[in-house]
Amino acid sequence: MVEPDAVRPFGVEIDLQNGRMLRPERTTVRRASDMRGYYADPGALERLIEEGDNPVHYEVFETPVPETPGNLMYCISALQPGLVGQEFFMTKGHYHEVKETAELYLCLKGQGLMLMKTETGDCTAEAMARGRLVYVPPGWAHRSANTGAETLVSFCVYPAEAGHNYGDIEQEGFPKRVLRVNGRPELVSAAAE
Ligand code: F6R
Ligand code: ZN
Repeated sequence: MVEPDAVRPFGVEIDLQNGRMLRPERTTVRRASDMRGYYADPGALERLIEEGDNPVHYEVFETPVPETPGNLMYCISALQPGLVGQEFFMTKGHYHEVKETAELYLCLKGQGLMLMKTETGDCTAEAMARGRLVYVPPGWAHRSANTGAETLVSFCVYPAEAGHNYGDIEQEGFPKRVLRVNGRPELVSAAAE
């Protein structure tokens, strides 16, 4: 039975034009220095930290609900445009701790790619652009990369009990990277690293 007083109905305002959650309860900020170990060119990241004043990479705005089955967690994810060497700014990426949990990303602003991979080595990418919805199935790790000139903003929703496993991606990375090649985004194999 649903606990009647577990969460009361509520509403949250989202500025769809600018892709902001108004008055979020929790904001997670990831700066360039939080991304050490993730990019192919660590020297370029250090230069960005030192010379670029450790810029914000991305922010996640939330008004959380209890992390229990039946609830839906949701957030606005806002990833800045930029390059680390020739690699587009990206999120850390993660598996969900509870493997059987999927996620929906509805892109509100910007241009990008959602990289997804399974533990068995399957890897693919889906385009992100305003009005495009990307479905991340259960068991697929996911990371977004901003390939455009403006902030890449998505509304994300997933089962509240999903949890996040960052450690595996921190260790393994993804089989592909999103690099600028001849001025355009390209998926490049990370195998040679
Ligand atoms: C939640 C989710 C997104 C990301 C956000 C930042 O399950 O996938 O809200 O949390 O895009 O990326 P990470 O969490 O990989 O740093
Ligand atoms: Zn997720």
